[in-house]
Amino acid sequence: MRYLTFALTKGRLAQKTLDLLEKTGITCEEMRDKDTRKLIFVNEEQKLRFFLAKGPDVPTYVEYGAADIGVVGKDTILEEGRKLYEVMDLGFGVCRMCVCGPESARESLRNNQLIRVATKYPNIAKDYFFNQKHRSVEIIKLNGSIELAPIVGLSEVIVDIVETGSTLRENGLTVLEEVCPLSARMVVNQVSMKMENERIRRLIGELKKVI
Ligand code: PRP
Repeated sequence: MRYLTFALTKGRLAQKTLDLLEKTGITCEEMRDKDTRKLIFVNEEQKLRFFLAKGPDVPTYVEYGAADIGVVGKDTILEEGRKLYEVMDLGFGVCRMCVCGPESARESLRNNQLIRVATKYPNIAKDYFFNQKHRSVEIIKLNGSIELAPIVGLSEVIVDIVETGSTLRENGLTVLEEVCPLSARMVVNQVSMKMENERIRRLIGELKKVI
């Protein structure tokens, strides 16, 4: 039997994924060790391999078949636009992609002023404003702490993830529009889905029982 390889998103999502897999009897103790510098972990008995990657790289590994299965946020799936099958909503990492800004930006958003939108997700922002709202905006790509942009005057609004809303509140910003709901998803390589159909179907079935 060949190894089924999982690409997991480093950080919070990986921990939650391991918790979920454990409930179905899939374990990978080595991976729980926070101090390890190892990159890949093997469960010999179950013929499974796991590795951790940065979120945006997970769909890349899965599209090319370097991983059969990936666990990654819907935000990253949308932003990366890779060819893969999204097979399951795992029900954790629940949050929303939103257009946010100071209350005063609501007006400029409504009338057709050319506004600047700062975001870590330029493709999602473009799709939302251009294709869904039929509105032209200037997109400015940032890599983190997006909430800073409207505060220091880089942009009028941002497109970013809102979970509890506390980052917005603490910075005097608010949700102006909702783009889409988000959560962690399981994705599968298109060839693996055919070649390993039975194993993957069984895994999905087991996961559905414990979610
Ligand atoms: C995310 C997101 C928001 C924050 C939302 O940032 O970009 O800043 O979490 O969470 P809240 O609604 O619960 O406050 P993250 O901490 O992942 O880091 P980043 O700023 O580097 O993107």
